[in-house]
Amino acid sequence: MSATDKVFAGSIPKLYDEYLVPLIFSVYADDIARRVAALSPTVLLETAAGTGAVTRAVAAALPRDVRYIATDLNEPMLAVAAQRQGEDDRISWRQADATALPFDDATFDVVCCQFGAMFFPDRIKGYAEAKRVLRPDGAFVFNVWDRIEDNVFAHDATIALGKMFPDDPPRFMARTPHGYHDKTAIKADLEQAGFGHISIETLSAVSRAPTPDYVAIAYCQGTPLRSEIEARDAGKLQAATEAVAEAIRMRHGPGPVEAGIQALVITARP
Ligand SMILES: C[S@@+](CC[C@H](N)C(=O)[O-])C[C@H]1O[C@@H](n2cnc3c(N)ncnc32)[C@H](O)[C@@H]1O
Repeated sequence: MSATDKVFAGSIPKLYDEYLVPLIFSVYADDIARRVAALSPTVLLETAAGTGAVTRAVAAALPRDVRYIATDLNEPMLAVAAQRQGEDDRISWRQADATALPFDDATFDVVCCQFGAMFFPDRIKGYAEAKRVLRPDGAFVFNVWDRIEDNVFAHDATIALGKMFPDDPPRFMARTPHGYHDKTAIKADLEQAGFGHISIETLSAVSRAPTPDYVAIAYCQGTPLRSEIEARDAGKLQAATEAVAEAIRMRHGPGPVEAGIQALVITARP
C-alpha cells in the first residue's frame, strides 16, 4: 500500500460522499445494516465509517435505545458523516485507527466495518482489535471488494489511466480497494486474530450512474486515486477524468450507464 492510499482528505470526502457512495457503497451499506439489525445489538461500534453510508443505514434500522460509536482514521470523512446524519443522540463520532482502538475489552455486541479492512496496514491487528472489544458472544460483520475484474467501472478506469500514464500507471484501485479478496487468506487472517466461526459470502450487485462523467469524477476525484494522478502531474486531473469518462462512454454508451460490482461479506465470531 502506498502512503497516500489511506488519506481521505482535502476535496476527497465531499466528492466521495456525493458520487462514490451512491454509485457503489449504498447497496452494500443496506446489506450490512440488515445483517447488523438482525443481531439486535445494544452497543455497536463501526470502524472505517467514512462519510457514514453504513451509519445512516444502520441508524435507520435500529431502535432508540442503541448506543452507536462510529469511528474512522480520517477526521475529514467523519465531519461529512456527522453533518449528513444530523442530530441523533444514539451516535457518537470519534477519530480512531481500527488497528489500535481506544476502547476497553468486551465492550460491544457488534463491530461492523464496510470496505475498510483493505486499508489496514496490519489486517490481523485490525481483526484482533475488533475481537478484543467484542463481547464473547458478539459478532464482527464486514465486507471487502472482490477482484477488480468483477468491479467493471473500477477496472475500466484503471485500464484507461494505465494508457494515459504508461510508464507509471496509477494502480490504487487494483492495489488497495481490490487487493484483498482471497477467501482462504481472509479466513486465515481472522483465525490468526482469534476468531473461530467465520462465514464468507460473495454478493454481486449493479452500480448505476446517469453519465460516464459521473463515474469518472467518482473514481478519479473522490478517492485517493486523485492523489496518485496529481502526484504524476498535478495539471492532469481534469484530463485524466475526461479520459476515464471517454473509456466508459466507448464501452457502456452515453448514459445512463450500469455495470457489475462484487464484494465478499464476512461474519466472524470469537
Ligand atoms: C473506502 S472507504 C469506506 C468508508 C465507509 N465505510 C463507506 O462504506 O463508505 C475506506 C475508509 O477507511 C478509512 N481508513 C483507512 N485506514 C483506516 C484505519 N487504519 N482505521 C480506520 N479507518 C481507516 C478511510 O479513512 C476511509 O474512510
